[in-house]
Amino acid sequence: MKRAIVYYSLSGNTEKTAKIIAERTGADLIRIDTVKPMPSGFKGQIMYGGMLATFGMKPEIKKVPDNITDYDDIILGTPVWASTFAPALKTLFSQKDIGSKVSSVFTLSGSGNNAKCLAKLSKFCPNIKNSVSLSDEKNGKPQDNKGLLEGFMTKL
Ligand SMILES: Cc1cc2nc3c(=O)[nH]c(=O)nc-3n(C[C@H](O)[C@H](O)[C@H](O)COP(=O)(O)O)c2cc1C
Repeated sequence: MKRAIVYYSLSGNTEKTAKIIAERTGADLIRIDTVKPMPSGFKGQIMYGGMLATFGMKPEIKKVPDNITDYDDIILGTPVWASTFAPALKTLFSQKDIGSKVSSVFTLSGSGNNAKCLAKLSKFCPNIKNSVSLSDEKNGKPQDNKGLLEGFMTKL
C-alpha cells in the first residue's frame, strides 16, 4: 500500500510531528506551502491567516507532486487556524481529488482542541477513521502529546 503524509506547517510543529510519523511508518512526506509567504511576525500571521481561514479563502499553493493522487492512503497533518484546518489544504482539495483517501488526521493547536476543525475537515475528507489532537509544547503538556501520538500511530 502506497502511503503519504500530506501536511501544512507554518511554524514547524506540524512538520515535526509529520517527520516522527514518517520515521515510524515509512510513508512519503509531502509538504504543502503557499506561494505568497506568510507574514513573519505572530500578530501578522494571526490577522492574515485568521482572515484566510475565517473566510474560507484558498491561497495559491506551490506545485504539488503529480503523483499525489496515486497514493492509496493519506495521513493529513494541519495546524488549527481559527478553529479550522490550514487554508492551503483547502486549496489542495480544490486542485487534487484526494479527500476520500485521507484516513487519518493529526492536528496541532494552541488549545489542543480540534473538534470544530475535524468537523470542517470531514466535509472534504469523509473517510477519516483515526485522528489525534496535539497541543503546542510551549502551551500544553508535551508528555500528553507523546502518549496521544503513540496511540495514534498504533492505529495507522
Ligand atoms: C493564523 C493562526 C490561527 C490560529 N488559530 C488557532 C485556533 O483557532 N485555535 C488554536 O488552538 N490554535 C490556533 N493557532 C495556533 C496554532 O494552531 C498552533 O500554534 C500550531 O501548533 C501551529 O502549527 P505549525 O507550527 O505547524 O504551524 C493559530 C495560529 C495561527 C498562526
